[in-house]
Amino acid sequence: MKFFIDSADIGEIRELSDTGLVDGVTTNPTLVARTGRDFFEVLDEICAVVSGPVSAEVAATDVDNMVTEGRALAARAKNVAVKVPLTWDGLKACRALTQAGIAVNVTLCFSPAQALLAAKAGARFISPFVGRLDDIGHSGMTLIAEIREILDNYPDTLKSEILAASIRNPLHVIEAAKLGAEIATIPPNVMRQLASHALTDKGLGDFLADWNKTGQTIADR
Ligand code: E4P
Repeated sequence: MKFFIDSADIGEIRELSDTGLVDGVTTNPTLVARTGRDFFEVLDEICAVVSGPVSAEVAATDVDNMVTEGRALAARAKNVAVKVPLTWDGLKACRALTQAGIAVNVTLCFSPAQALLAAKAGARFISPFVGRLDDIGHSGMTLIAEIREILDNYPDTLKSEILAASIRNPLHVIEAAKLGAEIATIPPNVMRQLASHALTDKGLGDFLADWNKTGQTIADR
C-alpha cells in the first residue's frame, strides 16, 4: 500500500518524508487555507520535497475553468495530480485533463456509482472519503470494498487507483489495506500513531534497563 500525506504543511511533509515511507501528498483548499500561505508557493515546495504524486485541487466549478486551472496547476511540476470534485463538470474536466496526459484525482467520492463514473472518466485516482461517511453513520469501509469489487471486474478498462481519504485513525488505514485500496492518504498525526504502541514503549524500556545492568556497549566492539 502506498502512503500519501494529507497535508499542505511543508514542515510536516518534510519531517515525515524523511522516514522514506511517503509516496505522495494530497492537499485540499481547506488544508491550503490552514497554512495561510500562497497556494502556488506551497505547491512548488511540496513538489520539490516529494517525488511522488502531489494532489492540488481546482477551485472552479465549471468544466472550462476547471480545465484551465488544472493545466495551470499541472504546469508547476511533473508530479502534480489535479484534483477535481465528483460532479458532472468535474467528470468532464477529468476526461479532458486525462486526455491531455495530466493525472487526475477525483475527490469527494461518497458512493460506488460516483466511483464508477470517475473510473470511466479516466481518473488516475479516486478518493472515497471514509471518515466523513462514518461521521454520518454510514460505512466508509463498505464503500472501499464496493469500489474494489467494481474495479476488479474490469481490470482492462477501469484502471483507477483507490485512494482512501478522510482517514481519521490507524484502523482506517489497516481496514483500507485489507480491502486492497492501493493508497491511503494519511493526516500527519495518524501517520505518527501508526508506529506507536504502549507495549513497544514498555518492552523497549525494560530491555534497555536490563541491558544497562550488564555494563556492556556494542558500538565500540
Ligand atoms: C483527501 O484528499 C482530502 O484532503 C482529505 O482526506 C479530507 O479529509 P477530511 O474529511 O479529514 O477533511
